[in-house]
Amino acid sequence: GPMRKTLIVGNWKMNKTISQAEELLQRLLQRIDSRCPAEVVVAPPFTILAAARAQLCDTVIGLAAQNVAAEDMGAFTGEVSAPMLIEAGCGWVIIGHSERRHQFGEPDALINRKVKNALEHGLKVILCVGETDAERDAEQTEHVVHLQLTEGLNGVTPAAAAHVVVAYEPVWAIGTGQTATPAQAQEVHGLIRRWIGELYGPDTAQAMRVLYGGSVTPDNSHSLLGQPDIDGALVGGASLDVDLFCAIIGSA
Ligand code: G3P
Repeated sequence: GPMRKTLIVGNWKMNKTISQAEELLQRLLQRIDSRCPAEVVVAPPFTILAAARAQLCDTVIGLAAQNVAAEDMGAFTGEVSAPMLIEAGCGWVIIGHSERRHQFGEPDALINRKVKNALEHGLKVILCVGETDAERDAEQTEHVVHLQLTEGLNGVTPAAAAHVVVAYEPVWAIGTGQTATPAQAQEVHGLIRRWIGELYGPDTAQAMRVLYGGSVTPDNSHSLLGQPDIDGALVGGASLDVDLFCAIIGSA
């Protein structure tokens, strides 16, 4: 839509050491500057955030974490909190990625607590939703995505919702090379925007960006981003390759 700036997010998942990340970001920064029409954000692993912040400060590339705890501090071994991410230089956090939901068993109630706490600390949130292969086959896509969306945003105020981006990632399309067709993706994106409207009204629904994720490549990004309710992409594998990532950004 005209009022929504295209957002391209690179989710590096559990890839890159600090030195590898520095090299990748250096190459990315040679290609992405203020003339870039899209907003670009990278989401490296926690260990890289501080070094990435040093490289990215005073650039147009934003920094996201891939996860966050629901609590601010305490006896939560292995967790990283929102205040820690803020001080490490993050402006964004991805919450509820399908790998968190399905490999690490994160339920909607936990994801909701993470969303609310991250927003309270001033992080912008990329809330991920999406159905599995079996759920799509069972015609549960609408039900599942609606539930993940409404549970994830439960108790999020309209003012806070302005700092939320939704990412629709059908689980069957993640890392499989099997992208949703532009029509399949648009159908769900249209529903998500309708549901945002039911929760927050038409202005928020028109303003909120809804990203597509799942095997996005330069070959399919243009047609996906051309859909009326697809406002950007959450890119996994292709974000680790500067040429591919820049080609996706360029197709926006
Ligand atoms: O968060 C992005 C993601 O899950 C998609 O991964 O590798 O299919 O682009 P990929």
